[in-house]
Amino acid sequence: MILLDGNKLSEIIRKEIAIRVIDFCGKDHRPPHLAAVLVGNNPASQAYVRNKIKACEEVGFASTLIKKPESISQSELLNLIDSINEDPLIDGYIVQLPVPRHIDEVEINLRIDPNKDVDGFHPNNFGRMALGLSSFLPATPMGIMMMLDRYQIPTDGKHCVVLGRSNIVGTPITLLMSKKSKPGNATVTIAHSRTQNLSQITRSADIIIAALGIPYFVKADMVSDGVCIIDVGINRIDDANSSKGYRLVGDVDFENVKHKCSAISPVPGGVGPMTITALLENTWKAFREKK
Ligand code: GUN
Repeated sequence: MILLDGNKLSEIIRKEIAIRVIDFCGKDHRPPHLAAVLVGNNPASQAYVRNKIKACEEVGFASTLIKKPESISQSELLNLIDSINEDPLIDGYIVQLPVPRHIDEVEINLRIDPNKDVDGFHPNNFGRMALGLSSFLPATPMGIMMMLDRYQIPTDGKHCVVLGRSNIVGTPITLLMSKKSKPGNATVTIAHSRTQNLSQITRSADIIIAALGIPYFVKADMVSDGVCIIDVGINRIDDANSSKGYRLVGDVDFENVKHKCSAISPVPGGVGPMTITALLENTWKAFREKK
């Protein structure tokens, strides 16, 4: 069984990015600059954004964290987005999701300059991705594609079952895995909460991409021998033995499933770091293709 080690792979790719920064920025060019907007006090979001800022430092990017209170209004947030769009020193930025309930996420995404949309959530980028045109790919699916590519997981003609149909992971990874490319060329089934006979479908999978957000959902009897599993879940479950009071687990019952796998990504240390590495790649792209 191959452990798809997102930490190790990220370290390699981040070193490559750091070298690009040194080579290009050397003496007389400022480094790429990523900004992150964080609204409210969601502990998981705070941790994700902290890791994104830390990763920027690691590769020599500049970064700015813009924290706003939970009470920020829609118009205040839109004004902030307008000002970031116009800031020539910010190459790319993200608005960390989820945003508070009173904020209209769609309107926020529509306001982000597509040329700075390093999350790939703007319809321009999402549509371009669907058409196979150059775009910013959403970071998590992009990180998964990078992982499959670098570990040389065969995907051509394989049956890939995606669990979950979110805009951030399930839907875009379905498009990417089915497109005519390498990795890609897979026959993709997208399964969701209304899917019937799910175990029958997952047992026919060569590749399972689990992105439902339900701890330990994928059990050993749901998969066939030799399957490759990408676990996108990052679920916090109570753990009195941990100093934090919780631990992170995936959507896959890793300990019981791993014996059946040809390859599997762990949680933590799998897709999570790859998502951040993909965000760095997108920021580099925004910086180099600046209009
Ligand atoms: N929340 C969970 N995943 C993501 C992501 O990839 N980007 C943003 N902005 N928020 C998220």
